[in-house]
Amino acid sequence: MSTTLKENIHWVGFVDWNIRDFHSYHTTKGATYNSYLITDEKTALIDTVKAPFWKDLLNNIKKLADPNKVDYIVCNHAEPDHSGALPEIVKNIPNAKVVCDKKCSEILSAYYDTSNWNFEIVKTGDTISLGKKTLSFLETPLVHWPESLMTYIPEDKLLFSMDGFGQHYATSFRFDDEVELEEVMKQAKTYYANIVMPYGKQVGNTLKAAGTLDIEMIAPSHGLIWRTHVDKIVKAYQDWAINKPKCKVAVVYDTMWNSTELMAKAIYEGARDSDVEATFLKIREVGNTALATEIFDSACVAWGSATLNQGMMPDVASILTYMQGLKADGKSGFAFGSFGWGRGAPEAINKYLEEMKYDIIIPPLKAKWLPEEDVLQSCYEAGIHLAAKAKEITGSN
Ligand code: FEO
Repeated sequence: MSTTLKENIHWVGFVDWNIRDFHSYHTTKGATYNSYLITDEKTALIDTVKAPFWKDLLNNIKKLADPNKVDYIVCNHAEPDHSGALPEIVKNIPNAKVVCDKKCSEILSAYYDTSNWNFEIVKTGDTISLGKKTLSFLETPLVHWPESLMTYIPEDKLLFSMDGFGQHYATSFRFDDEVELEEVMKQAKTYYANIVMPYGKQVGNTLKAAGTLDIEMIAPSHGLIWRTHVDKIVKAYQDWAINKPKCKVAVVYDTMWNSTELMAKAIYEGARDSDVEATFLKIREVGNTALATEIFDSACVAWGSATLNQGMMPDVASILTYMQGLKADGKSGFAFGSFGWGRGAPEAINKYLEEMKYDIIIPPLKAKWLPEEDVLQSCYEAGIHLAAKAKEITGSN
């Protein structure tokens, strides 16, 4: 199966409909690994797919070109969801040069036996003429790995953006205007929050460099191709790159016998009654991928856990570790939770918040066994306080 993006430029990738666990990213809508074939006077393949799907990719290529006549395989990114098929594809496309930057060649050589590969190393500003079309390269380190590269075709105003601007979204459609815009933007935001968030500074640099290009179409290596809503996804990336928060409070918690849940509910109600967007999310039920997306654009977060074995509950530790890795730091918030005979969870959360450079607006809120009315009142007031902070941060007063 292939789809034409521009004259002689085709999508030849793989739609992974049923994947739900992408290295712990919960892909509720599946995923795609996008490869593109350019059939000009010379032929070039842009990126490959995950290893198990190399035959699907090769069959798609064979419908459009003789594999012996493919001249270049561009590897924009060495991560195995895009390079896994390379060993088999290189074997079956024997005359092609593998085009990538130096770091990428080193990573590929660590993963695979590349002793017979014919590398052509490129850097920013280098070009390869295919005839009527030109491949122009732009190194974009850390979007998403250190070796990342984007490939631009000036004649078609088309940017192959690799992970950037991608989404995990399996569909029979290939373009952004063939699906609901709200859904594709939601998936793009989830992707950004869970994959790209730690690299906001590098995304900013990439946007600056890409801003000098005349771009009509963005073809990422995951999900839909942007041809109608390029301006919307670029604007969203501009906001996301600087972690621009919304006037939003997230109350995230886990509970054992509902004591912490009662506290969470009171905090949530305090925020909700203060005219800000507020979310009330039980960590164990919602899962890390959706939580990261909710926390990503929240100005303020209240983190709660019941005490288990003198510490926090395991799913709370999981999301805190995940968010710390994603560098979702510098928000405002506080810790809360219940305990019985051994204290632990709120204090343990508070330590995480300190490490994540939170502006901790109050000391941990705690309830022994079941929260009494005065504790619930304090929780409600803390929710109001958090909402006021969200307004202050976002200038929404
Ligand atoms: Fe889709 Fe960073 O790989």
